[in-house]
Amino acid sequence: MVRFLAEQVQKTKRPLRILELGPGTGTLTKAILKVLRPEDSLDLVEINPHFCRMLRREFSHPNMQVHYTDLLEFSPGKPYDYIFSSIPYESIPEEVSKGMWEQKLKLCKPGGFISYYKYVNFNHFRCKYEKELVSRFSIDRTFVLRNFPPAQLFTLRIGQETALLQPQKPRRKKQPAKPRFMLTA
Ligand SMILES: C[S@@+](CC[C@H](N)C(=O)[O-])C[C@H]1O[C@@H](n2cnc3c(N)ncnc32)[C@H](O)[C@@H]1O
Repeated sequence: MVRFLAEQVQKTKRPLRILELGPGTGTLTKAILKVLRPEDSLDLVEINPHFCRMLRREFSHPNMQVHYTDLLEFSPGKPYDYIFSSIPYESIPEEVSKGMWEQKLKLCKPGGFISYYKYVNFNHFRCKYEKELVSRFSIDRTFVLRNFPPAQLFTLRIGQETALLQPQKPRRKKQPAKPRFMLTA
């Protein structure tokens, strides 16, 4: 699950901003912290106060913060390079699930990554919006048969074209494209 994050950490000199949604008892948090550098930052958003206390007790990193809140209420002010989510979308009504995906798109930088998993025996993509996002932005789908129940990991790379999925603003009339290079005498 942290394979693409590890690659980004290797490739990127500037500090990365990482967000984990629904960290629970911290199984994935532990793996994320193993690849982070001290200058990177990790925000954990968890709705269960018991898990929040546990995460604060168990894990430490100079730039790690545990936020006890609903992800729909979370507004950090700055977007993230990488978002991990363990939210169980299969058990959430479609409209709520859509709201969560809209929130994740808001929280993700253009060119940023979103990784999450689903158990394969569940009805895949109850949420049409999620299905649309996966078909548009997924860069990797991996089956993990050794997990019980078997799971599928998805990694999406959010491009500039996410604007198409947000509520549309009235468009200005398109101007003819300017030549990109001009030769002058
Ligand atoms: C499947 S569990 C996470 C499992 C985790 N990887 C672990 O090892 O414990 C999903 C987590 O998402 C949290 N959660 C569910 N809805 C949430 C919401 N709206 N905002 C923040 N956290 C939420 C739950 O409290 C739970 O801890």
